[in-house]
Amino acid sequence: MGIKLKITALMVSVLIITGCSSNNSQPDVEMGQSTMNHDMMKEHMSHDEVVSLNNSTGENELNIPSMLESDNEEGIVYTVRAQKGKTEIFDGTESITYGYNGSFLGPMLRFDKGDTVKIRTINELDEETTFHWHGLEVAGDADGGPHDTLKPGEEKVIEFKVEQEASTLWFHPHPEGKTAEQVYNGLAGLIYIEDANSKSLGLPNDYGKNDIPLIFQDRTFDDKKQLNYDAARNDDGTIGDTLLINGTLNPKLTVNKEKVRLRLLNGSNARNYTFKLNTGDSFVQIATDGGFLNEPVTLKEITLTPSERAEIVVDFSQLKTSNDLALINEDGSILLPFEVSDESGESRNIPREMNSFSVTEEEMSLPVTKKVELFGMMDQVTINGKKFDPERIDFTQQQGVTEVWEIYNKPDEMGGMIHPFHIHGAQFKILSRNGQEPPENERGWKDSISIQPDETVKIAIQFKHKGVYMFHCHILEHEDNGMMGQVKVE
Ligand code: C2O
Ligand code: CU
Ligand code: CU
Repeated sequence: MGIKLKITALMVSVLIITGCSSNNSQPDVEMGQSTMNHDMMKEHMSHDEVVSLNNSTGENELNIPSMLESDNEEGIVYTVRAQKGKTEIFDGTESITYGYNGSFLGPMLRFDKGDTVKIRTINELDEETTFHWHGLEVAGDADGGPHDTLKPGEEKVIEFKVEQEASTLWFHPHPEGKTAEQVYNGLAGLIYIEDANSKSLGLPNDYGKNDIPLIFQDRTFDDKKQLNYDAARNDDGTIGDTLLINGTLNPKLTVNKEKVRLRLLNGSNARNYTFKLNTGDSFVQIATDGGFLNEPVTLKEITLTPSERAEIVVDFSQLKTSNDLALINEDGSILLPFEVSDESGESRNIPREMNSFSVTEEEMSLPVTKKVELFGMMDQVTINGKKFDPERIDFTQQQGVTEVWEIYNKPDEMGGMIHPFHIHGAQFKILSRNGQEPPENERGWKDSISIQPDETVKIAIQFKHKGVYMFHCHILEHEDNGMMGQVKVE
């Protein structure tokens, strides 16, 4: 199978080079005309220089987002308000921020599989926004893409049935050209889906105690300790030197000596993280974006690009409880110091079998029917040579029919950069990366994937609902600069 896949990938790249657009074995490939622009490369300096993060001093206990209470016992009704407010991120100073049902970030929404959920969304900002449910399989008119704007003061009720499996999803705004700024200012919240399986596995699930959400976002604060997006903005992705986790500056997390589940969300506009323990100890990954892995995967580090999630379990009963235990980034910067209490906590085993995810023979043998070519940088980013046009439908796909999409990150003269690619309204399977089987910890449901320069990734995707869905680079400035397309599911 590996060899066959390699050959297929090679054939496809030959086809791209020769500009041939049809192939008997791969009928009806949808792909726009690709146009190259060499000028864009000249102004570009380097993709690799990234400002490093200040170490967390650990002086503040990590904030845990509140769990949103339902408004109504009978129906499952939640009210989510986008608001502007002031938040004391730095002691004694108020920063102007955005949040959901509060001044900064948002609450966690918890759904059970099978629930019919009604959400009343209200825009209390003084600008347009949308409410997008990242990773949720809902009809297009509930998805909150750029077509779904609410003007200041407007509200909209959406209703959907939760039919996907237990997972950690999130929500954020998606107004055309303004997503990056609104997320930067603080609009982001968590969704937890639980199901019979997640409840029976015996995984740590005491919210805020041994089941901890960690939303990683880097920011730049100005002299007055304000988030000044216009000043910080970078067309190639806005990064900052200051890390906030769940909105907490200089966070630390106090845990018991037990297995602790960390639900990692890269909620940054552009920064990639490679998480590891400063002791070099390993941990296990138990879930990808959209569900559990079949079995825990032991890792020493894990990289998440913007919008990706992973659930990991760290066994604090096995780690030396030296006082400088911390989650660190690739370059060694301290992201989250841990304080391990003397309490021993619960002892539990992580089950060997957690899910029944599989890629079928049939999926492996489907022809590629959609091709996506990511290219460019700064404000010259494109998909298949085109920028986002809300009036243009790029692809169509039938509801309930699995198709194979091939995503290629075309390098530029500088080498290119990683683009995190995301599709709305569905969870998909990675079939191959450059013709190879994906790594073990990517053999699970995904809605966002990192694509390296010159890498070709094949995915199998099926939409359960109808509607117009976005697909885009999740570097939010790339998205705002037009690195986005639309698939119409009918
Ligand atoms: Cu996280 Cu288009 O979204
Ligand atoms: Cu999304
Ligand atoms: Cu990008």
